[in-house]
Amino acid sequence: MKKFSVTIAGGGSTYTPGIVLLLLNNLDKFPLSNIKLYDNDEERQKIVADACEIIIKEKAPEINFVATTDPELGFTDIDFVMAHIRVGKYAMRELDEKIPLKYGVVGQETCGPGGIAYGMRSIGGVLEILNYMEKYSPNAWMLNYSNPAAIVAEATRRLHPNSKILNICDMPIGIESRMAKAIGLKSRKEMNVRYYGLNHFGWWTDIRDNEGNNLMPKIIEYVKENGYDVGEHSDGSWQHTFQVAKDVQALDPETLPNTYLKYYFYPNQEVKHTDPNYTRANMVMDGREKQVFSECKRIVEAGTIEGTTLKAGDHASYIVDLARAIAYNTHERMLLIVENKGAINNFDETAMVEVPCIVGSGGYEPLTQGNIPLFQKGLMEQQVAVEKLVVEAWIEHSYQKLWQALILSRTVPNADVAKQILDELIEVNKGFWPELN
Ligand code: NAD
Ligand code: G6P
Ligand code: MN
Repeated sequence: MKKFSVTIAGGGSTYTPGIVLLLLNNLDKFPLSNIKLYDNDEERQKIVADACEIIIKEKAPEINFVATTDPELGFTDIDFVMAHIRVGKYAMRELDEKIPLKYGVVGQETCGPGGIAYGMRSIGGVLEILNYMEKYSPNAWMLNYSNPAAIVAEATRRLHPNSKILNICDMPIGIESRMAKAIGLKSRKEMNVRYYGLNHFGWWTDIRDNEGNNLMPKIIEYVKENGYDVGEHSDGSWQHTFQVAKDVQALDPETLPNTYLKYYFYPNQEVKHTDPNYTRANMVMDGREKQVFSECKRIVEAGTIEGTTLKAGDHASYIVDLARAIAYNTHERMLLIVENKGAINNFDETAMVEVPCIVGSGGYEPLTQGNIPLFQKGLMEQQVAVEKLVVEAWIEHSYQKLWQALILSRTVPNADVAKQILDELIEVNKGFWPELN
């Protein structure tokens, strides 16, 4: 059986140890000969890599392990790149969140001005690793979940239309797991879904079990009461998100919404619920980053993973499913962010949409979702214009287009506020964004 070689780009990510453990748990389904970590921050990556080296030595010593900041070593002789880079790291995420909040505007990693700012940083970073992959391993596939996925996906569509890149998000998967639990199913894999939208901006329209029975009424009944809160432990800010999903669901009672829509429909409540001096970036730095990094350091000191609290990122099993779909032509049905090309019949052909696709060794085939209603269509047209304007602004170095992108975002109240936020974002993003004219 062929053994595959994988590069994790953004090796210093807080998610890397969980993904490595997940890969090691799935070697029977997806055998590996090489795991490489690549990052452009040697010091940060070393914290994670030193622990991963011990993990691999103990669990699967036959796998070659390399951690590097050298693109040639990182991207040579590989089959898959799993990419989760964060250009500007948490320090810039904090500013993406805090600057809009000064103006009473949603401060969020992927939505509104924060997502636009992050997009302007990410495009270059993702294109850079895509170029490395194509230079050193032209047959490899890139499985990308670097955010903001909507903007990154549009940028690769425009600038790398023939690249072997698949953009995917874990939010629908997380929500589907909650739906399954809410109605007493063992796994989300017992559900077959129809879904359409943009990344972090979509709706389920139909959910059936494997016998074809309609599960929507039962799930809707649950969500009307509880949102996607299924009593599972998650931290306070996620708990809030899952609960308010019920207010988002009320806007179109026949469908089930992605949680991220709350930022567009209830921006004021979200701003009120956020401490402008202690945002999600602070929570992640004080929470996940501290926990993962201190556990990595502890493993290195102990020289063994015995008793570790690090866990396989089971929520990320979709990454293995996606790699397997390509490696073994499984034809699994998965939600991907792909060029519309008629999948949503009455919507821009060139928009990057999130829809179910059949995935096999040749890539993906989107499943048609038909015509969408006026409410969603209007919202999506506005949001996709934001995403396209950001990419055009990046390509053309256009201040005007980026300002227009902010103005068009439903999270921003008017052009004056858009300009003030934009000017502050430009200041702090010097060196990350192209210089705008
Ligand atoms: P993190 O900051 O812990 O890790 C990101 C790593 O990327 C850092 O080590 C950083 O040095 C590295 N990096 C930055 N620019 C780079 C470049 N140009 N080349 C190589 N490496 C580079 O971040 P995190 O919280 O672990 O998240 C990682 C990414 O995954 C983010 O983009 C996040 O938004 C994304 N994410 C996406 C999903 C999804 O649903 N699509 C889910 C979770 C996380
Ligand atoms: C979900 C989304 C990701 C996003 C993440 C943020 O998983 O799908 O796109 O990056 O949440 O989580 P965090 O814990 O970093 O705030
Ligand atoms: Mn996502």
